[in-house]
Amino acid sequence: MINVELLSAIHDSAVGRCRLCGSTAKTLLDLGSMPPANWLMSTHIQAIREFPLVLEKCDCGNFQLGYCLDAEDLYTHYNYATPNSPSLSEHYSRLIRHLEQNGYLTPDSNVVEIGSNVGRFLAALRPRVKSVLGIDPARNIAEIANRNGIRTLVEFFDRRVARDVARVEGTADLVVARHCLAHNRDPYEILDGIIELLAPDGALLIENAYAMSTLQQNEFDQIYHEHMFYFTLHAVRTMLERRGLALVDVMFSDIHGGSIACVAKRSMSNAAITSRIAAELWRERELLDYGLAQRFVDGTASIQAQLKSTIGDLRDRGCVIYAYGATAKGATLMNSIGLTSRDISYCADSTPIKQGKFIPKCGIEIVSEEWAFANPPDVFLLTAWNYKNELIAKARAAGLERVRFIVPVPDVTIV
Ligand code: TYD
Repeated sequence: MINVELLSAIHDSAVGRCRLCGSTAKTLLDLGSMPPANWLMSTHIQAIREFPLVLEKCDCGNFQLGYCLDAEDLYTHYNYATPNSPSLSEHYSRLIRHLEQNGYLTPDSNVVEIGSNVGRFLAALRPRVKSVLGIDPARNIAEIANRNGIRTLVEFFDRRVARDVARVEGTADLVVARHCLAHNRDPYEILDGIIELLAPDGALLIENAYAMSTLQQNEFDQIYHEHMFYFTLHAVRTMLERRGLALVDVMFSDIHGGSIACVAKRSMSNAAITSRIAAELWRERELLDYGLAQRFVDGTASIQAQLKSTIGDLRDRGCVIYAYGATAKGATLMNSIGLTSRDISYCADSTPIKQGKFIPKCGIEIVSEEWAFANPPDVFLLTAWNYKNELIAKARAAGLERVRFIVPVPDVTIV
């Protein structure tokens, strides 16, 4: 459990300044004060500290949190373990195929993944490459990876760690940074390490939730303290260019509500971007110039109001409601409209380290899927809406033919 007294001060000195380009960043959406979403509680009334949760927008195309917590406070002991999911496995296969077909990955590649969690992506890569190595700051999570045979170092990745790894293991032909660069206050610290570690002709794969999908689909619940950046292609390009790296490829996918995967290489010269990347940059600029950010703010308010009234109505009619997926997104979603265990009795989740704990602030207890299916509610609020089809199929296969599902984004719908 986290000793909140040890928490370092929140960084507010740079509020209002873009941490990618240095210009002014303006507040776009203020979600009030929230506890960090993955600080699961051990009782439903545990006192837990809250911090401002504010999304800022910069004209360079970057979206970021105004107030950031220290990585040590968020990641040293971590409650997120990548789930075992068919759609995730399929996504990994697609990514790997793309990397192979475009020559970024060969059977001779040495691969290092930063923020490798329990090692699921490396496990998918391992049969196709020469070596894989994971680096993750969470000891409890890295232990699971090592037990599963994915060699994982327990470290916060930076230049020192990069140099040590390069000296002992050699440089990396592919460095993977999936859902991790945007999870740190200063992504340049990580990029500087990557530059130390990358082989001269090596490739860097950066993947993150895609800000344009977040905005277009009203996914305001993607905003929580771990997500310190919301990457557009413009933002990734700014970041890479500032470190002399060239953006050479981009792939979009539906995973996690819409993700962007970019490939970068060392740029020896000012290599021209491909016409496809130029077209994507133009598309983003058009959307941003024509009010997408404001539509997102309005969409957020409308979902919050609709969800609150839908859940209130269902509860007044005596319906029992559980959440499905003890996601960080769920913590933002439910806390932002003041739901508590009086509204949502339990939250079902397959992750063993989450079960028996409570979602911060709203105090909803996390139970196993098996328990939830054996003691079913009338309605599930799909807090892991990004796995919608999988979760609905799972519940139906467990015999829950009549249970209904509230899907909160892009609009509140009932399935
Ligand atoms: P994720 O969407 O990655 O969450 P976050 O918002 O925290 O980034 O997490 C999905 C959650 O859903 C995770 O806690 C595991 C859970 N889950 C199930 O309970 N059953 C399943 O079949 C799947 C695929 C996920």
